[in-house]
Amino acid sequence: YAKDTSVVVFGASGDLAKKKTFPALFGLFREGHLDPSTRIYGYARSKLTKEELKERILPNLKRPSGAEGDAKVHKFFAMLHYVHGPYDTPEGYVKLREVIEQHEKEVGVKEPHRLFYFALPPGVFLNVATEIRNNLYVPNGGTRLIVEKPFGHDLKSARELQENLAPLFSEEEIYRIDHYLGKELVKNLLVLRFGNTVLNAAWNKENIQSIVISFKEPFGTEGRGGYFDSIGIIRDIMQNHLLQVLTLVTMERPVSFDPESIRDEKVKVLKAFAPVDHKDMLVGQYTRSADGSKPGYKDDETVDPKSKQLTFAAAPFRINNERWDGVPIIMRAGKALNEGKVEIRLQYKDVASGVFQDIPQNELVIRIQPNPAVYMKFNAKTPGLSNVSQVTDLDLTYSSRYKDFWIPEAYEVLIKDALEGDHSNFVRDDELDVSWKLFTPLLEYLEGPEAPPPVEYPYGSRGPRGLREYLEKHGYHISEQHNHPYTWPVTSPD
Ligand code: BG6
Repeated sequence: YAKDTSVVVFGASGDLAKKKTFPALFGLFREGHLDPSTRIYGYARSKLTKEELKERILPNLKRPSGAEGDAKVHKFFAMLHYVHGPYDTPEGYVKLREVIEQHEKEVGVKEPHRLFYFALPPGVFLNVATEIRNNLYVPNGGTRLIVEKPFGHDLKSARELQENLAPLFSEEEIYRIDHYLGKELVKNLLVLRFGNTVLNAAWNKENIQSIVISFKEPFGTEGRGGYFDSIGIIRDIMQNHLLQVLTLVTMERPVSFDPESIRDEKVKVLKAFAPVDHKDMLVGQYTRSADGSKPGYKDDETVDPKSKQLTFAAAPFRINNERWDGVPIIMRAGKALNEGKVEIRLQYKDVASGVFQDIPQNELVIRIQPNPAVYMKFNAKTPGLSNVSQVTDLDLTYSSRYKDFWIPEAYEVLIKDALEGDHSNFVRDDELDVSWKLFTPLLEYLEGPEAPPPVEYPYGSRGPRGLREYLEKHGYHISEQHNHPYTWPVTSPD
């Protein structure tokens, strides 16, 4: 990418910038993927000194130990500058332009490149975009915007946002980030599917019985309850992160791996999704943990004490196309559960009966986190004299197979892509539109007068009562595993 690029992080004093954006920029620098000529500007309302900003960022950086780490950190902070100013009036932006232009002049930049990262609350989003357009815009592809969710609250507001943004910036200039698209195993989906005949040949309704995409987090909304209460688990996780994953699992083969071909296929499959049967959902909200040590959702002072906001949801999807017609697909996401885990499970159909009674189905698991892995539950003869079959696995666990690889953080991958002008792993405007079309009726029902009350589940549990039956009802079989005890040998990531 262009030397002397300016990266401006708006919302520099906030949580996202501190925990994700700056650490990702540092990670890229540490690994030699951020050119030392790059200048990083933090911008926010807070009157911070650069030193104070540094203090905030420092604890979140993954630095090498010893003198090497110190040197890297020192060099990184030499690239960083901070400008404060309001979001809604031009003066701060004018100041920022002067600082940027002065440097560009000093180093003799002819065609400036400026990447603007929006780590901002949605309320100021359009103000900032407008001020950038008026004060900091450079033509000829030199301007890029990385924007963070929420991209609207429903179809109408997402369209409004897009209509307001479109006159300011072209689609080419906008990078809508969904950090799940930067995760290693999500990026691997296309290769796994289309680079392996053995998987590709059976990736269809003839062979697959059900698909489950799960997101489980072991912590609640502590610290951001106020924000979450107006969002809920469906907007926070399902409409974006999990739908992106599901789209990559179900799309057709793109004609090439260029960004538009991939995004065309994603939009195509999304258009084939049937409306979600919102009456067939399982929804929940967590309460205090069984031992009383962890607070319930509504114990948070920033949450409405009568809130019916969902912290858990499971929803059924169907895709009306040749490949997937009739295959039940479940998407489920929950906070404050018994474990943290994000995975895709494809459960295959039973083998022909006759020779085998009661032999478990194959299952392909793509574990996105923690401890990334791809494994296939597989039947084999018990070794030795026995002729009885047992479940085993074909296991590709990254921590044991790829010991010496640097697996970048999702934000590192995506910021690098944006610097290089690669849109493949960003969400296109029409893709966003279809995803809201799919989710808006469901949200309207769940937020309307006929909404079912969320089923309460204790913090640290598996989720609302009835989850097991719900999965079974939708074609995901759990019971066989009880007759054939099998646990995947989880190895620690370190
Ligand atoms: C964010 C959500 O987009 O993703 C959070 O707003 C959630 O609520 C987070 O915790 C999960 O991301 P990751 O990368 O930790 O799985």
